[in-house]
Formats: sequence, structure tokens, C-alpha cells
Amino acid sequence: MDAITLGISFRGVTQSFDVPKEATFGTLQSLIEGVTQIPVEYQKLISPDRGLIKSGKLANGAETPLEEVFPTEASRKKIMLMGTPIQKLQELQETEVLKAQEHAKLIRHNQNMKRKAKKAATTPVNPDVYKYTFHRLEPLPFLPYPEKSLAVLRRLKEDRGVQAIMVKYKWSVPVLTELDPASNTTHQSRLLGRNQNKGQVIELRLRTDDYDGWCHYKDVRKVLCHELTHNVHSEHDQNFIELCHKLEREVVEFDPFGKSGKQLGEDVYNGPGYGPEEFCDEGGWFGTTQVLGGADVTSSSAGTFNVAEESMRAKLRRAAESRRKDNSEE
Ligand code: NI
Repeated sequence: MDAITLGISFRGVTQSFDVPKEATFGTLQSLIEGVTQIPVEYQKLISPDRGLIKSGKLANGAETPLEEVFPTEASRKKIMLMGTPIQKLQELQETEVLKAQEHAKLIRHNQNMKRKAKKAATTPVNPDVYKYTFHRLEPLPFLPYPEKSLAVLRRLKEDRGVQAIMVKYKWSVPVLTELDPASNTTHQSRLLGRNQNKGQVIELRLRTDDYDGWCHYKDVRKVLCHELTHNVHSEHDQNFIELCHKLEREVVEFDPFGKSGKQLGEDVYNGPGYGPEEFCDEGGWFGTTQVLGGADVTSSSAGTFNVAEESMRAKLRRAAESRRKDNSEE
């Protein structure tokens, strides 16, 4: 016979290869590559009697005659071929490259996040932040959802820009609270904030006029700047205006995240919208008498309210109670 017949099984299919008698193992490998597209270096040939055949281990390497590699009929019948065709390899390589790119991207992202977290963790908190701050936050308990007002007050307290100006000017304010909208709204005026006794208590109008929504955070923060200015200047004079504008600038500049400020969430919608020169309050407030818009006079700390305000409070209280009842019945 001039040829050797080899039965080579690949993926469950056995194919017959007729190769010249003088052929070498290398010839067979090239032949297999031509038929199956499996590159020589990726071919694994396993013979039933000698196991995995490695050309490097043969007497003459790839030049070893096939007759020597497969000496018996039995050894030529069921040679098993394993390997991956070149096209498949390329696809796999491409997938691997994509995977590696994705992986590298993910690693870079994680590293950035870690770096940021580390930076935040290692940036020492200035102890003055606890000293020059609002020491108590008080939402009005008789208005609906006081916890939401508390969240706004807390956000103001923890606002990095606010923290920075409190520290810079060494302001320590015992109470930051919600301004009672009912007793501070008349036909003539709406008070947006109040500063009692140069920084003893700062009140801010947090809610929209229907009491169901909350004002824009940045507007409230602006009013806070105005009220903080009253820690220094009682009258709305030139000195007041200069410091107030400075604070409004600094509260944004000192906040490292200020320019990408988050919205407060679903409850915030367009509030009354305060212009920079608009009426905020009646100036620094001393003692017990507060004049609202010059028309109504209320002595709030003495506990006397006019009838309209009192009934408004009662209405709000009832609304809050019925809301609570509704919730507990659900
Ligand atoms: Ni004022």
C-alpha cells in the first residue's frame, strides 16, 4: 500500500485521512489544519494506545514518519482530535479583548470611586464645623409632615457652603427653625425669614403658600444668607447689602459640589421665587414685637394671635390630625 488510512474523530464525527506512506507527523498536522482550520499549535491528537501525541516528544519531532507514530492498525482507527478552529479562535480573541476592555473600564471606575471615597474619608473634618453651626433644628410640629421640614433644615445645616460660612464668620446659632407661615403672612406682606436677637434663633419660611409643598432649596438658602447677615447688621443698609451678597457668593463658592447641586426631590417645586433684592424681613428682630408689613401688629412671643391666624392654625392642626388618622387606618 502506498497510503496510510487514519480515522480521525473530531467533535463526534470520524473522518478518514489517506496520507502517503512517507508522510510525517508534520504533514498530517498541516493536512488537519487545512481541513478543520485548527492551527497546528492548537491541535491535540490523542491516540487510543499512546494518549496525547506531542510532536516534541517524538523521535524526530514533526519529521517523524507517521508509520512510527501510528505503528499498528488499531492505533490508526480512532485518533481523537481536539482543538479550536482559527475563526472561532479569532472570535474568542475578539470577545476576550472586549471583555478585557470592559474589565479595565470597570477597574478604572472602581479605582476612581475608591480614590474619591478615600479622599472624603481622609479629608479631616474641621472641628470648628461642630462649634460654628446651628445647634438645634426645629420644624413646626403642628404642620403636616414636619419630618420633611426637618430634612430641609438638616440639609441647610450640612450644606458645605453653609458650613464654610458659619466657620469663616464664627457663627454659632442655637436654633434654626421653620417660620410659621400662618402668623407671618398678611395681605400686605409675607415674611420669608427672621433673625431673633442677632443669631439666637433663625426662622425660615420653608413651605409654599398652600403648605403642601416646600420651597426651592436654593431660594431658602439665599434667605438663610440674608438672615445670617442680620447676625452682624440689623438694618438693611449698604453694609448689610454688601455682606449679604458676599455670603450668597461664598455659600456657592465654598461648596465643592455646589455647581452640581442636587434637587431635593419630589416635594420641591417652584416656590414663590425670591429675587435677590426682594423683601425678606423687617430687619433684625429684637424683643417681642414684630411688625408685619406695617399693617397687622402681632405680639407672637406673648402668645396672642388675631382670630384669622388662630383659626388658620386650628385648621392646619385638624388637617394634620386627619392625615395621621388616615395613615393609621391604611
Ligand atoms: Ni432682613
